[in-house]
Amino acid sequence: MATVYLNGEFLPKDAARVSVDDRGYVFGDGIYEVVRVIEGRIFAWSGHAQRMARGLREVRIDFGDSEVAGLEAVCGRLLDANDLRAGEATIYLQVTRGAAPRLHHFPPAGTPPGVYAAASRFTPSREMREQGVAAIVQPDIRWSRCDIKTVNLMGAVLARQAAREAGAYEALLIRDGMLTEGAATNAFVVLDGVARTYPLSNYILPGITRQVVMDAARDAGVPVSEEPVTQQQLRDAAEVFIVGTTTDVAPVVTIDGRPVGTGTPGPVTRRIQEAFLARLYHDTPVAR
Ligand code: PDD
Repeated sequence: MATVYLNGEFLPKDAARVSVDDRGYVFGDGIYEVVRVIEGRIFAWSGHAQRMARGLREVRIDFGDSEVAGLEAVCGRLLDANDLRAGEATIYLQVTRGAAPRLHHFPPAGTPPGVYAAASRFTPSREMREQGVAAIVQPDIRWSRCDIKTVNLMGAVLARQAAREAGAYEALLIRDGMLTEGAATNAFVVLDGVARTYPLSNYILPGITRQVVMDAARDAGVPVSEEPVTQQQLRDAAEVFIVGTTTDVAPVVTIDGRPVGTGTPGPVTRRIQEAFLARLYHDTPVAR
């Protein structure tokens, strides 16, 4: 039985109980993170912690920077308790506005936030990495604060289900004729040798992997540009790839059933993937 963390306690997952009044449950009123663990080390913890603290500030949930920082130790204990110090794992972290009678406005000051964390074994897909994935295009129906990692994921759920039903891994989202990102990944399109990705704004999540990938690409000599790509450019692109905590760098080899370029992972994607994986597996500091 997995051990999870809930509101200050480490306990068997079956024994973890959340109130039906929790605002995460009734309103999707919470912020989450997913971090990657390699041999007991959390990859890019500070980036995840900063993004989580910012998200909590933006939605005014009373859980400050130092409390977010404290979750690193929770992660360490979850790794120990679940025997996940060796190999790869992911940790899910969530902070909601807590439990209170169902009224849209905030509960009374002092209502404790609901804090949950769970670690799981993770095995990256070699096939995804090497052969690439299929994607479909979907309208981006999400709200206009996609920069906040809220647990309210209806837009992503519907888009990912459409992908699943089409036999694809990811849905590439289109807003105002432009590719924003994937349902649970950031997207890059290689145009004239430049890896282009949507600029940071309220319309995409500021992906931690996205930032590491941009740095790795530049170091590997691939020019990167934060500039939107039109749906037409996406359709004509030689290479497309998606990036995220549980996706790493995955080549997109078909879109809506049509091959991207040659229909196999392209050379620019390969270079960036290699540079990213080197960082993922070699630059991860030891978790406390
Ligand atoms: N998803 N864009 C969206 C909409 C996402 O949900 C995610 C991550 C990303 C990639 O961000 P990062 O590199 O920081 O993981 C981009 C997580 C993994 C999830 O929902 O499970």
